[in-house]
Amino acid sequence: MSGNVRQVVLVTGASSGFGRLTVEALARRGHQVFAALRDVGGRGAKAAAELTALAAAERLDLRIVELDVTDQASADKAVETVMEAAGRLDVVVNNAGGIFPGPLEAFTAEEAQRQFDVNVFGALRVARAALPQLRQQGQGVLIQVGSISSRVTIPYSGLYAASKAALGSLTEAWHHELAPFGVESVIVDAAPYPTNIGNNAVLPADAARFTAYGEGFGSFVGELTGRQTENPGDPTAVSDAIVALVEMPAGKRPLRTVVAPPAQREAVESLNAHAAETARIVGADMGVSAFLVA
Ligand SMILES: NC(=O)c1ccc[n+]([C@@H]2O[C@H](COP(=O)([O-])OP(=O)(O)OC[C@H]3O[C@@H](n4cnc5c(N)ncnc54)[C@H](OP(=O)(O)O)[C@@H]3O)[C@@H](O)[C@H]2O)c1
Repeated sequence: MSGNVRQVVLVTGASSGFGRLTVEALARRGHQVFAALRDVGGRGAKAAAELTALAAAERLDLRIVELDVTDQASADKAVETVMEAAGRLDVVVNNAGGIFPGPLEAFTAEEAQRQFDVNVFGALRVARAALPQLRQQGQGVLIQVGSISSRVTIPYSGLYAASKAALGSLTEAWHHELAPFGVESVIVDAAPYPTNIGNNAVLPADAARFTAYGEGFGSFVGELTGRQTENPGDPTAVSDAIVALVEMPAGKRPLRTVVAPPAQREAVESLNAHAAETARIVGADMGVSAFLVA
């Protein structure tokens, strides 16, 4: 284990995709891992059984905890469960999320709220549950799982991109506000990788408006999925990046980590460098540099 410290880690959305890969990788590296799943008695039952069996077979310190990120009481209870079992909480990985793809006009405000309820307010709820403990410890990390679409918005991803941009803003505010308490906040912005996110995608319910965009949306999806089928990428690139952040020494974690094919990664990293410099200049001009973490 690099960093030589066994971390107590809570990962939301651990049933599949990046979350599942992350909990398995962290546990295999000797960390004490709490895999948070929603509806453990129902839709989460299979993943819970598989992870429990894996923990027994490989003697991993990997436990299931129930957590629906749309419910504050559920988030509070999950953190309480971790505290009772481990006595501390070092890292929270705000990974739970989903995508509502489609033309913006076809979504109702209620659907937009549902997109934000998981991807944005979910992270807020889990942070609200965990932060009193992290502040009291004087150390801890929030790792958000974001997307490069927060930096580059392509068509038919507007709700998702907006939610991930909001998550990026929350991450940056936490980054500055929590530093005096010794607590870090960082984000991993990932390109598209094959997980269950496509199968779980929620399309707009307004069929008439959706159909009006039919041809453009159809050919867009065709181009995108064609490219991704040719070159799907390996989602462990994302879980590896999360594991690396968990194991980095305190104070050394970068605010933003981009996980993407090289051309996309370099372009987004360049944008991030400009954004960081812009924040520094604007902060100085506002007279608030002392409150900003470099
Ligand atoms: N895959 C990509 O291309 C990509 C790229 C950039 C960022 N991301 C982000 O990566 C994160 C993980 O997504 P993924 O790609 O690994 O997709 P995934 O395989 O569909 O995993 C999403 C996870 O979030 C959970 N979840 C959804 N709503 C929840 C809720 N209300 N409470 C608790 N858990 C909930 C899901 O649980 P259930 O099984 O119960 O639905 C599942 O465990 C998301 O934040 C996503 O936006 C993905």
